[in-house]
Amino acid sequence: MSIPETLRVHLATDPSESGYYRLDPERFENAGKAFPDAFRRLRPSYSDDEAGFVRGVRDADVLIGWKFPRPGLAERARKLRWVQLIGAGVDHLYPLDWLPAGVKLITASGVHTKKSFEYVLMGLIALHTRLPRLAGHQRARTWKKIQTGTLPGKTALVIGLGAVGTGAAEAARTLGMRVLGVRRTARPHRFVDELFRPEELPAALPRADYVVLAAPLTSDTKEILGERELALLPEGAGIVNLGRGRLIDQAALEAGLRSERLGGAFLDVVWPEPHPPESTLWDAPNLFITPHVGADDIENYIPVVFSIALDNMARFFAGRRLRNVVNRRRGY
Ligand code: GLV
Repeated sequence: MSIPETLRVHLATDPSESGYYRLDPERFENAGKAFPDAFRRLRPSYSDDEAGFVRGVRDADVLIGWKFPRPGLAERARKLRWVQLIGAGVDHLYPLDWLPAGVKLITASGVHTKKSFEYVLMGLIALHTRLPRLAGHQRARTWKKIQTGTLPGKTALVIGLGAVGTGAAEAARTLGMRVLGVRRTARPHRFVDELFRPEELPAALPRADYVVLAAPLTSDTKEILGERELALLPEGAGIVNLGRGRLIDQAALEAGLRSERLGGAFLDVVWPEPHPPESTLWDAPNLFITPHVGADDIENYIPVVFSIALDNMARFFAGRRLRNVVNRRRGY
């Protein structure tokens, strides 16, 4: 394959996105300073509405965005080589049949690791201290002691060991916990003491004081924590979800919280999002819901995404393999 002298890059801001996620020239140029040779060879354009998108993708080699008009992309963007997402999950783009043949889909996996570490640190400590329950007591003006131990020696089970799961496993390890991990491959992980394959999950669940969900949502992982799996957890176990709401059977989770068989949950993701006010989930006991803010470091998010994107462009110019390419069959 011959490598072209330049790449036309179109950066499409999703018009419904809040200001912070804007893909603006200033931040792109700033991130480009770390990749001067590649950046010099880029021809960027920017849009924040559909007309600008259609104009911009017409001769683009690379599209950077998150939500964008997908129907007819193959005809609209005949030169397209890859789509760089500004997030890690791709489930909002399923089915992937809009992706023109031969065009790669690339994620920003890695951008969430540091903040996931902090969120899981917070979630594990808070659940272990019974903070959701204590917060309920405070709101009810009730002075009631719940005394708890410490985390070292307790067991955390991290489901999904990509970039988010790595932050989660490091948090559990930092807290002195024994870390069990679930991943598709048998590849060892530096923060995990014992690895399980997805089909071995039933053997891992009864050992978990805490479960952290950090897997992508695919047809294989949907409700990976279903009613049966939740029932295998020890009494009083806690759950942190940083992946997607539909990784859990939410009705079974709510029932487990209401019966107090589960000790508590910290959910950064729920189904659906935004979560409707009439949902009964909101007032399940011992539950904290944070509205999908747990893994995005808002001070550094777009700059880090741009460096992931630019690193791949530099790799492309050097004829090297691109990173974070989605496997269409696997779905992430
Ligand atoms: C956020 O949820 C992401 O997938 O990046």
